[in-house]
Amino acid sequence: MPFLNVTDRAGTKHTLETVEGWRVMEILRDYKVGIEGICGGSCDCGSCHVVIAPEWRDRLHPARDEEIDRLDQLPLLHRGSRLACQIIWSDDLDGLSLTIPEA
Ligand code: FES
Repeated sequence: MPFLNVTDRAGTKHTLETVEGWRVMEILRDYKVGIEGICGGSCDCGSCHVVIAPEWRDRLHPARDEEIDRLDQLPLLHRGSRLACQIIWSDDLDGLSLTIPEA
């Protein structure tokens, strides 16, 4: 079973089981690790903001304009900031590591 590695806002590390084809936001939301996913994945709310670990940043597809525009509206961006609703889980992401930043 492929896994997603998450560090939550308290610094606690979680290893989550994943589902092929789900948005990473949906996985994080269902495990209740601090992601709300208020807009359901339509790139409107920014509540699924995550920071991708450096070694994974180039392995994800680049953010589309819509995601970049939404990220630009967040109060604080980091290197590796992405919207988890725009990343669809596939098993080749096994071991993906991300952090949930302060809201
Ligand atoms: S869930 Fe709203 S922008 Fe990702």
